[in-house]
Amino acid sequence: MTTDATQQTRLDDLSWPQRTDRLEIRPGRPEDAAAIWPWYRRPEVQEWTTVLPTDEAAHQERWLELLDSSVVGLHEDEIIAVGKIHRQPPWSQADVAAQARGLEAELGWVLDPAHQGRGLGTEFAAALLEIAFDGLDVRRVQAVCFADNTASWRIMERIGMRREAWERESSLHRSGRWLDALTYALLASEFYDPAAPGGPAGTPGDGADD
Ligand SMILES: CC(C)(COP(=O)(O)OP(=O)(O)OC[C@H]1O[C@@H](n2cnc3c(N)ncnc32)[C@H](O)[C@@H]1OP(=O)(O)O)[C@@H](O)C(=O)NCCC(=O)NCCS
Repeated sequence: MTTDATQQTRLDDLSWPQRTDRLEIRPGRPEDAAAIWPWYRRPEVQEWTTVLPTDEAAHQERWLELLDSSVVGLHEDEIIAVGKIHRQPPWSQADVAAQARGLEAELGWVLDPAHQGRGLGTEFAAALLEIAFDGLDVRRVQAVCFADNTASWRIMERIGMRREAWERESSLHRSGRWLDALTYALLASEFYDPAAPGGPAGTPGDGADD
């Protein structure tokens, strides 16, 4: 079987908005950049983001670049969460790359600091996982973070992802420090049957007691 990337479901093809208990989720729009900027620029958010926009114009430019894989979460009609559901090619041998293309997604999340610590990050991340598996039909989802970003990897564990890698000092933080990085993942088969042998629910030493 070959997978034609042009035929893969895109975020825009799904039915929107999607709702959780407290959030309304939809794809990002160009104009969202301005609504997000006042909290996205804050130091406690920038501490962990990949790109540090120097000003609002740089933020807008970056937002447009990532729009295809961005969703936002609204709480009481205000955007309080930004998420990434980015299809990426899994590693494969070159001759079967076409069959692997688009079957993995990387997730990411950022919450308005004014709304953190109330379980909304977990609620949002769980919805991203469901959109990736149910909506985009990927076979594997992955998320990475600095090991020091405890709030983020705790979310990964709460939504049922499995810690698969702990890399020692693999990642340079903009503070100049080389930090450990964590990779978490989940297969579609495990998402639909968490108790399956080898699934996260049955995996010893998954880091839950760290
Ligand atoms: C990481 C991040 C998304 C977490 O968002 P959040 O909304 O605070 O996450 P949650 O509220 O779901 O979880 C945070 C804490 O609240 C607790 N919590 C969960 N549900 C709760 C509820 N209903 N009421 C109160 N607290 C709750 C959780 O137990 C958790 O605490 P713990 O980690 O000590 O166990 C947020 O800190 C953030 O945006 N950080 C900056 C950007 C970033 O790091 N992104 C990830 C890059 S990899």
